[in-house]
This record gives sequence, structure tokens and C-alpha cells, in this order.
Amino acid sequence: MIRLKSKEEISKIEFSAKIVAEVLEIVGQHVADGVSAYDLEKVATEHILKRNAIPAFKGYNGYPYTLCVSVNNEIIHGFPLVEKILKRGDLVSVDCGVLKDGYFGDAARTFVVDDFENEEDKRLLEVTQKSLELGIEVAKPGNRIGDIGHAIQTFVEKAGFSVIRDYVGHGVGKNLHEDPQIPNYGVKGTGLIIRSGMTMAIEPMISQGHYETRVLPDGWTVVTKDGTKAAHFEHTIVVEAEGSRILSRL
Ligand code: MF3
Ligand code: CO
Repeated sequence: MIRLKSKEEISKIEFSAKIVAEVLEIVGQHVADGVSAYDLEKVATEHILKRNAIPAFKGYNGYPYTLCVSVNNEIIHGFPLVEKILKRGDLVSVDCGVLKDGYFGDAARTFVVDDFENEEDKRLLEVTQKSLELGIEVAKPGNRIGDIGHAIQTFVEKAGFSVIRDYVGHGVGKNLHEDPQIPNYGVKGTGLIIRSGMTMAIEPMISQGHYETRVLPDGWTVVTKDGTKAAHFEHTIVVEAEGSRILSRL
């Protein structure tokens, strides 16, 4: 079931989403050669607690950390481990969720450590980020959920990359994951009609190779089956009469 949000609810989601945006900004400033994923986890947790908010992923379905830190062939849900040391050229996807005042915000960004290893890595980041923007652009009243996935998929595949199919975006609000599911692939003009007052997390996960995935023995980390690199950008947005507005941006 999809419940449209009131103004008051939207401002609470926005507040949480802004804290997530702050976290990603701070984490981005710490991404560097020799830094561990756990260092990022520490600054993220510290900031969320300072803002009197709750790290939303910690304990969610048993997930043990504040952040997901997924490096190179890791797509999502990577653990921010002490022994995960970042090195020059790594693509580091950082995903964070915050709960404050009963409402969730959720966002993700992929960073490069210092400099890109090659032109394809740079293109992967640019294409993934741009595909999120294109998806957000069509998330407006009267369009359909399939239009979002269609916009993302068309752009990504034209660039020669693949859209991960096994994980999708979602509604967000009183729960981290609400209906509807928002696939990053799809057919134009299909699916639920988008309406003003919907809040959602759109989150393309894109790989340089095939879209097939595998979960590591830790039970969480999702990697590309073929070992190619992946990127992940996510925003929490609200659909308004004129179009959608990004909540997880400073
Ligand atoms: N950010 C992820 C999402 O967008 C959630 C991570 S799941 C968790 O759906 F279990 F790690 F919290
Ligand atoms: Co999400």
C-alpha cells in the first residue's frame, strides 16, 4: 500500500535525508589512500549521534553497521571493516540511512580514491550519477514507476554498462523500505502511476560488465558475479505537483 505523505511528514523525511547528505559529505572528505572503511564508519556514526539521530541501517534485518562501504566489484551492503584499506583508484560506494523523529532518509554516493585508475572507471561514476538524475527527472505526477527504470536503463545501456536487477529502489518514510519497489530497469508507460506526496529512494546500481550478482559468505556483501566494478548513487526525493525535489542534498 502506498500512503501519500503530508507536509509535516515530508519535512521530517527531509530532515533525516539532510543528515544523510551531511554524512556523505563528511565521509567524502575522509576518503583517501590508506584510510580504512572503518574510519569512515566512525566519522559517520559520530556525526549522526551529534545530530541526535539514529543510524538506520544498524540492526536493520541484522545489518551490523551504520554505513555500507562497497569497494570496486562490491556493489552494495559491504561491511566497513578495519582491514578494508582504501587505495588509490578504488571506487568506494557509501550508503547511509538515518532515522530521526520517526522518519527515514536514505542516500548513497560513489567516491574515487584520489584519482581514477582509467577512463572507464571515470565514465562509470559519471554515467551512474547521471542516470540517477534522469530517473529523478521523470519521477513526476502522471508518469509511471516504469518510466523511472526506463530512463535509467536506456541511458546506462547506451553507455555500455549494465543495470543491476536483483536490488531496487523503494518508497521511504516511516519505514526504510516501503512500497513501491522502484527497479532501475523497466518499460515506459508501465507500473503504478506516480502521485504528488510520494517519497522515494531512487538508487541505480550499475556495473561495467554483466548485471548478475552474488552474495559473499558474510551474508551481506553483494558483488558482481563477473568481478567487474560497480557504482551506486541514491537520493531520497519527494514528488511534488511540478516535479520531484531531492531531499538528500544540502
Ligand atoms: N541503503 C540500502 C537501501 O537503499 C539499505 C541498506 S540495507 C541494510 O535499500 F540492511 F544494510 F540496512
Ligand atoms: Co535505499
